Amino acid sequence: MQVVITTNESTAGEFAADIIERRAHAGALRVIGVATGSSPLPVYDALARRDLAGVRAARAFALDEYVGLPAAHPESYRSVVSREVTARLGLDPERVHVPDGSVDRLSTAGERYENLIALAGGIDVQILGIGTTGHIGFNEPTSSLASRTRVKTLTEQTRRDNARFFPSLDEVPRHCVTQGLGTILDAREVVLIAVGSRKAAAVAAAVEGPLTSMCPASVLQLHPHATVIVDEAAAAELRLRSYYTEVFAHRPAWQV
Ligand code: GLP
Repeated sequence: MQVVITTNESTAGEFAADIIERRAHAGALRVIGVATGSSPLPVYDALARRDLAGVRAARAFALDEYVGLPAAHPESYRSVVSREVTARLGLDPERVHVPDGSVDRLSTAGERYENLIALAGGIDVQILGIGTTGHIGFNEPTSSLASRTRVKTLTEQTRRDNARFFPSLDEVPRHCVTQGLGTILDAREVVLIAVGSRKAAAVAAAVEGPLTSMCPASVLQLHPHATVIVDEAAAAELRLRSYYTEVFAHRPAWQV
């Protein structure tokens, strides 16, 4: 795992965009995995500014969706992805996929989404944020480390964290459909962004804690090509901070 400590969130976004741009130039960006939440916004800002043909041509898969919100609801992840990603990066809306959170089709939502990802040839690079519970996607603590796309119940803490997007806590859905941790591990490369002190404990548990379903993001320790990009505040609880800084400063030119 490569840990990159940047001075601020815009530098973090530029660094993640560099990874994606390199892939696009190498012709290795057929499918991009996109995350919602505020953390990846600087990545989308940077990519939007760069206006890359290789990104515009990519297919995209979102990580997750709330159950029971109408697709047109402004906070459904279908709407958020359409606003923040599809429109800004110039993607073809027909090639942007979000799990189906409709209540009447839930029993097959996971399998249908897994099939779509497989048909597309798998995800080349998955962008991730991290929740304060240590979740990636909506894989809350005790999620199976081998899980596939399925319905999950959100923790109270996640519902409170996300209540800022809804008129009241009561309106935050309780259930979601999320790519599983096994699904995320199948991406060829993963890039996690975390900024701010609220994420410091989750980042430390994910990067340096034991591999445990109590911190679902710790599953990334099993991924052969994972980069964690954090600002100083999110890096605050990392014990090996100075080591990561040294590794980064002396990384060989051929290593990307
Ligand atoms: C949501 C999403 C996650 C995201 C997390 C953190 O719950 N399902 O994919 O990583 O929130 O959000 P933020 O980046 O806004 O802190």
